[in-house]
Amino acid sequence: MPNLSRRSVLTLGAALGLAGVAADPGRAWAWSSAGSIAGTDTITDPWQVWDDATDPLLVAMLRDGQIPAVNTAFDGWVDNGDPLPSGVPAALTSWLQQHNRLPSWADQTKLNRAAQFNKRMSLYLFLLYGLGSGIMSTVIPREARNVYWSEGGAVMKSRAAKTFTYGYDLSALDAFQPTGHFVVTSNKTRLTHAAVRHLLPQSAHWRAVTDDQDFIPISNGDILITFHSLGTFVHGKLKSWGIRMSAAEEEAFLHMWQVALHLLGVRDDFIPATWSAAREQSAYALTPLLAPTPEGIDLAGVLLNLTSAVDLGVTRGFQREFARYLLGDQVGDWLRLPRDLASRTVIEVGWPAYVAFREGLSPIIPTTFSLFDRFIRGLAMLFLNNGTSATYTPITIPTGNRAG
Ligand code: HEM
Repeated sequence: MPNLSRRSVLTLGAALGLAGVAADPGRAWAWSSAGSIAGTDTITDPWQVWDDATDPLLVAMLRDGQIPAVNTAFDGWVDNGDPLPSGVPAALTSWLQQHNRLPSWADQTKLNRAAQFNKRMSLYLFLLYGLGSGIMSTVIPREARNVYWSEGGAVMKSRAAKTFTYGYDLSALDAFQPTGHFVVTSNKTRLTHAAVRHLLPQSAHWRAVTDDQDFIPISNGDILITFHSLGTFVHGKLKSWGIRMSAAEEEAFLHMWQVALHLLGVRDDFIPATWSAAREQSAYALTPLLAPTPEGIDLAGVLLNLTSAVDLGVTRGFQREFARYLLGDQVGDWLRLPRDLASRTVIEVGWPAYVAFREGLSPIIPTTFSLFDRFIRGLAMLFLNNGTSATYTPITIPTGNRAG
């Protein structure tokens, strides 16, 4: 646990749009599940909960050398409405029969509303998930170390492409319909996480850097933290930018994430029931844990270079400053992002003006409108090409770790 003072936790939370009830770093888990969708007033530590329904299955399939055949069988299994893949071990078929479906509490009306909301928000979502959440993941120490030392950490371009597949499938109009992909993509991700839980503890590199409590990676608590770096962060930023959102849209966006968390194996008594409960949990569990690691600094550089490999009409300095603008200078300093103070001034003045004009809140077209428009449309195209082109990168279950 990093040595963050209560004051710097509050400042960091505010910079990330995640301000709420701040926790003292190091305090034991005390978020009551009264604020969860299960609504039971109990306190269970989600860092001690993994995925009992899935983990033993992956241990057996890895041990028996079945994963390459499973990955091949999964190639053609893409749509939610597809028949279950054939040619996989019987135990996996029975797991899929139980898990390849939405939870009983999923509400199609809310999911459809969320899909329309995602469509309306798409340009902001590409920016916030891509440049905001993506870079924030590198200052979540466990996630950074896990991602770095797992098999995919050595090939970040394809790993980023796979992660993008998840976001793209989640945000598609038919995400939860039979023609959409999200339920299948979630199941592949859940199985991948279960494989990582078994594989990473075998990595001497990972063991050398992991914290004392993190003896099995990707607990329910870790997944919740990542959710806050995605859904809660994005929601907070949209709110702070003054984007129009109806209460029903906000609720629908949260519902979509609640279903997504369930599909990743998070227990209902940990899933926040409201945005206010989510903010509270995030201030409690995410903000105090943020810290730099050598792995995260390396990953952030790789990720930012992937984005600056395409021409977004802005300099690298501008792109790094935009990441700082989204995540705050504490995170920017941790990641050693270079300063470009001229760009920072343009962003601080121009971005709110751009949003206000786009949202119809101001009639004045800012002089920097086309700069920002090209930047965020370029980012969207970058991610979209990745999700839809022939180079579409399917999620595959790893069989080993990063070599070194
Ligand atoms: C793999 C999404 C939480 C560590 C994946 C993949 C996706 C994904 C889509 C498959 C693509 C790939 O292989 O890269 C998510 C989402 C999360 C979440 C949506 C929470 C909302 C976490 C957490 C950790 C983690 C909390 C670690 C603390 C990993 C690792 C891999 C992986 C190590 C495997 C990469 C490899 O093949 O080497 N995740 N993840 N994930 N995830 Fe997650």
